[in-house]
Amino acid sequence: MANPFMVEEKAPKRVTTRSLQRRRDTGGSISMLTAYDFPTAQLLDQAGIDVLLVGDSLAMVVQGHETTLPVTMDQMIYHAEMVGRATSRAMVIVDLPFPDGQLEIERSIRCGARVLKETRCHAVKLEGGAEQASRIEAMVTAGIPVMAHVGLRPQNVFVQGGYQVQRDEAALVKDAVAAEQAGAFAVLIECVPESVAEAIHAAVTVPTIGIGAGRATTGQVLVTHDLIGLTSGYTPKFVRTYASVGQTIRDAASSFHQAVRDGSFPGPEETFD
Ligand code: KIV
Repeated sequence: MANPFMVEEKAPKRVTTRSLQRRRDTGGSISMLTAYDFPTAQLLDQAGIDVLLVGDSLAMVVQGHETTLPVTMDQMIYHAEMVGRATSRAMVIVDLPFPDGQLEIERSIRCGARVLKETRCHAVKLEGGAEQASRIEAMVTAGIPVMAHVGLRPQNVFVQGGYQVQRDEAALVKDAVAAEQAGAFAVLIECVPESVAEAIHAAVTVPTIGIGAGRATTGQVLVTHDLIGLTSGYTPKFVRTYASVGQTIRDAASSFHQAVRDGSFPGPEETFD
């Protein structure tokens, strides 16, 4: 029986595959950002971001590699566990890293199962479309929700010959349709012209999430480090930078350094009597 004296704090309703589908069906939108650690995930969740992605982009923006290829499944699990534990509303999706989404299908199912069993996250993202249809089908049949990722596929960077805008509309539509038919609950579209994203969006009934894909998709995703200005060097055209956290960190560290040097830190207020 419920305790009448206890004031219950209502937990926010978790975003699910069903609520995302409802957004598409009713003309709503979906916000999605990457997260790799507990405090950032908590802040993004509090800000109302619908979906957090533990992206394999962590290889580049956290680990400092040149591509997404070096990050391992164990490392993805390590970060995903922190993000899963930090959220109460956002749906959390975890990338299957290279080559766990390319080798035997059973291996992908085992990796997807690790995500669901060990991290409190809710789904996986898998790069590829038509050629991944049997893998997506097997994973969904095993109980693992899958978001497909078509267009520019960073795990395929050496085959695609760099990070270029993908323009083959017929092939990209085929990829997205195959992924939907195989059971993917959503399709992420990376770096395609807006007209191509429009054609993909029109060809499927599941939610579409764009990055560098224009305005036609159900939702938008960005890498959080790009959004907050915590990267060094090249910023892609499709990024909008909303803050300069890199500069803020540099300024704070420099002020601390100066204060230590000139003896003004610690002051009496930071010292025990
Ligand atoms: O790993 C990642 O950050 C991605 C982006 C496309 C959002 O997959």
